[in-house]
Amino acid sequence: MHYGGDYNPEQWPEEVWAEDVARMREAGVTMVSLGIFAWSRLQPAEGEFDFAWLDRVIDLLHEGGIAVDLATATASPPPWMHEAYPEILPVTADGVTLGPGSRQHYAPSSPIYRRLASELVTALAERYVNHPGVVMWHVNNEYGCHLHEDHSPAAQEAFRAWVEARYGTVEALNEAWGTAFWSQRYTAFSQVRTPAAAPYSHNPGQLLDFKRFTSDMLLECYLMEKEIILAAGATQPITTNFMGPFKPANYPQWAEHMDVVTDDAYPDPDEPESFRDAAFQRDLIRSMKPGVPWLLMEQVTGALNWRPTNAPKAPGQMAALSMQCIGRGADGVLFFQWRQSRAGAEKFHAAMLPHAGTGTRIWREVTALGAELAALPPLPAGTADARVALVMDWESWWAVESPDHPSNMLDYVAVLQRWYRALHRRHVMVDIVPPERVTVSDYSLVLAPALYLLRPEGAAALDAFVADGGHLLAGPFTDVVDERDAFLDGGFLTRLGAALGVSIDDFGALARPGAAGQGEAPLDGPFGTVTGTLLAEEVVLRGAAPVATFVTGRRDGDAALTEHAYGSGVGWYLATVPDEAGADAIAGWALERAGVAPVLAGLPATVEAAQRGNVVTVINHGDSDVTVALAGRDLLAGVQVTTVTLAPYGYALVERL
Ligand code: GLA
Repeated sequence: MHYGGDYNPEQWPEEVWAEDVARMREAGVTMVSLGIFAWSRLQPAEGEFDFAWLDRVIDLLHEGGIAVDLATATASPPPWMHEAYPEILPVTADGVTLGPGSRQHYAPSSPIYRRLASELVTALAERYVNHPGVVMWHVNNEYGCHLHEDHSPAAQEAFRAWVEARYGTVEALNEAWGTAFWSQRYTAFSQVRTPAAAPYSHNPGQLLDFKRFTSDMLLECYLMEKEIILAAGATQPITTNFMGPFKPANYPQWAEHMDVVTDDAYPDPDEPESFRDAAFQRDLIRSMKPGVPWLLMEQVTGALNWRPTNAPKAPGQMAALSMQCIGRGADGVLFFQWRQSRAGAEKFHAAMLPHAGTGTRIWREVTALGAELAALPPLPAGTADARVALVMDWESWWAVESPDHPSNMLDYVAVLQRWYRALHRRHVMVDIVPPERVTVSDYSLVLAPALYLLRPEGAAALDAFVADGGHLLAGPFTDVVDERDAFLDGGFLTRLGAALGVSIDDFGALARPGAAGQGEAPLDGPFGTVTGTLLAEEVVLRGAAPVATFVTGRRDGDAALTEHAYGSGVGWYLATVPDEAGADAIAGWALERAGVAPVLAGLPATVEAAQRGNVVTVINHGDSDVTVALAGRDLLAGVQVTTVTLAPYGYALVERL
């Protein structure tokens, strides 16, 4: 189990470093992410490096038994760089150059930025690759976090090259983007630009490719650094820290290039249900590399600084959220950051070692958690723990939130999280995967809401899943376009229609809350009467039978949820986006129909249960004590149990026999 945080010794005089190491040992710290923002200190001028101080820090940590996850420090270019090369700065869609004075002020596709970053990484890798204290490489930091797109001259040039490499000929590009519309036909790749400020809506194919390009540019930066580290002879795992459901980077694609998937997560302690969305994020990350433990690279011990208001974590909440990670497949938790900064934009951001020192609640909680993690035996990697998959696809996310749709109110992640919360309340383990990963040997029930863009392989996997005996709950606004964000011949649901036994005539957009027109679409089914929102689609039955019908409104009496026997499985199609209570009721019904059992039966909804191989983690997010029947070995207490009693924020990890 790794335990620790970002360590930024360059913020402190050297005398503090020895105290840091002593305190780290006291807190049970095993590993720190070192020097993430140290570029200006490591390289005071082009061609000039200063590693002497880093040598001393790494040696000090190593002597103290603290392993180093060594950062490549390329996330915040030093001031000399933009002075010499202002062209490395990124540009917004409105043409505003984003200047220095903050961080991440670089154009990811800039050849100059890439050259300078590679020079730093080469020097670092060659110097430290064989240091016994360096156990992991932390490439850059949160790629794209503050820079969701870039329209700099470097980006224009790179986008043209990217488009040319993807399509080969201008004719193929014109075909893919449907440029016959609005006189957008290109006659040379030199005419292609990023979708920056324009009088009206952009070409959707271009928008989608720009999202792909943006993710690819950031990934190229990562891969460039990774190659340099490998070329220097590295044998340590290499990673960069993800941010859960982060739209600009297609993480499932990136995960192939990570030796270990690492994640940063900051659930809002003011949101009573944020632990469920946190669990969604853990499961999303866990699903990216099945069977390979992941690492929580950053969380916060207490209050943040970057929300409009920054509530502290309640006593015990930090440990409970940490154990949520462990229970859902992490082999360690780290924090931003080790020692609270004295100056700078994040000085109010809580840390492991608070500004107010060691006589604080946070310090007591930090040391207690360190001791608990140290006492845990190795845990199973955890595979095939989930029988339910929630389909999440980045390309579909990009396309479904493109403008000019029947409803422009659809928030893809919010829809997915709503379904996830319903499953989480029922203590069911869920994998969150792209459609291509769906197989009937892995899953009994698959939910595919708003899977607007569907690739042929994904469609084939979902079709086979039903044919082979799975239960698929799809829709609404699913299987609408291909990879170009264009309609296919034959209407909608052209690939999944066979399995679902329906087609769609109209998407039936509903009014925004408070606006004129029908805003809600109630439906009646075996799960009671629930509320649909955003869309009430006009479904045409082509072999399927209605399970639920709309009541009142423009679709009154029409099918709202359909069922179709296909091969040895069942295809359900839902024609609306249910509200929270509706998703809850429908998920409960679908789980029962698909015969999916919870990790533990009979728990209150505020008690979370997760499975990792034969280890069950239970966490009480409620405000009163709960006793849970759970037989096995309590791994924290080191005793056999038949029940565990959990105080608020209490948790137990029990190895089932
Ligand atoms: C991100 C960054 C850290 C820090 C934290 C603050 O996760 O990686 O450097 O800024 O946010 O919460």
